[in-house]
Amino acid sequence: MYVPERVLTNQDLEKMVDTSDEWITQRTGIKERRIAAKDETSSSMGTIAGTRAVESAGIDAGEVDLVIVGTATPDYMFPATACLIQDNLGIRGGAFDVEAGCTSFMYALSTASCLAASGAYRNILVVGTEVLSRIMDWTDRSTCVLFGDGAGAVVVTPSEEGTFDPTFVLGADGSGGSALFLPAGGSFQPASSETVNQGLHTIRMAGPEVFRFATRVVVDSTREVMSRLALGPEDIDLFIPHQANERIIDSALKRLSFPAERCFLNIDRYGNTSSASIPIALCEAEKAGRLRAGATLLMVGFGAGLTWAAGAMQWQLTPASVSRPRATDSRELTPA
Ligand SMILES: CC(C)(COP(=O)(O)OP(=O)(O)OC[C@H]1O[C@@H](n2cnc3c(N)ncnc32)[C@H](O)[C@@H]1OP(=O)(O)O)[C@@H](O)C(=O)NCCC(=O)NCCS
Repeated sequence: MYVPERVLTNQDLEKMVDTSDEWITQRTGIKERRIAAKDETSSSMGTIAGTRAVESAGIDAGEVDLVIVGTATPDYMFPATACLIQDNLGIRGGAFDVEAGCTSFMYALSTASCLAASGAYRNILVVGTEVLSRIMDWTDRSTCVLFGDGAGAVVVTPSEEGTFDPTFVLGADGSGGSALFLPAGGSFQPASSETVNQGLHTIRMAGPEVFRFATRVVVDSTREVMSRLALGPEDIDLFIPHQANERIIDSALKRLSFPAERCFLNIDRYGNTSSASIPIALCEAEKAGRLRAGATLLMVGFGAGLTWAAGAMQWQLTPASVSRPRATDSRELTPA
């Protein structure tokens, strides 16, 4: 994972908009978030997270044969952020982006899982990276307190181990698209002085509507994955939900009868980092020793689209990370 150095606290936000630490903490669970420096981008942060993932998998970047990036804030409309990261890491394999709002990482991970299981690819780098601070209306208190910047990455490899195959449920309801969207900058409403003057390059969100949607799909998709695998809450060692709002997570835990101590939470320190939230949480959970080999892991995300995705898998130590020394090639990073 990688997060920018700059911390923006609720107290800092009190000086920018009409809000309070108490309101933000009670309604969301967020205390602070990270904000990218001027020269940081989705690709530069994703490059650092990707480099760390490749190192921790114990492989060389040259062994990665595919890069999939989930992001709602790509550096450019094109080329894909995955191509920028592929070049920065010196990877020779294919590269493409997946865009499913905050669910992009889960969509990318499920794609990688199937491609690895098919035998077509051996080491797939999956990155979730976002610079949401660049598409924020910093005068809109209903959105600017929620989001933060960061990146997380994993390397997906085929495994013979485990008692069940990774299982994903992907969902979308395009009719809800207007509840969370970025009006301008695409081909429908290209950038113009008018769109800039009207502030149409920043997030628009119907907060309560998205809240109701999220509480519903987190529960339903988690239940569906567990039912496909005949697992109950007691079989899940670690639950990693998208970190958007602690109240959404609390409500889901109650309805799923999930013990709170088996749920990973870091929203207080990063806010909603969109596609980066699940891989950042995964990385911190692993560092905290909460992911032993063979642990059953369930992750669930939701976001613009509207989209959602849940996936269950067994955490494995790769043969590479056990038997091979760490990569030492510290090729200099050249953010695009
Ligand atoms: C945005 C969200 C925190 C708002 O919380 P809420 O309890 O639904 O609050 P409401 O939007 O109904 O607003 C309640 C009041 O708080 C006010 N308010 C909104 N943001 C505020 C802020 N930052 N500080 C203080 N007051 C705020 C509203 O203006 C409203 O005031 P009013 O009653 O005088 O009109 C909540 O709806 C949410 O988290 N939604 C999901 C968003 C999300 O997860 N998006 C990303 C999906 S990937």
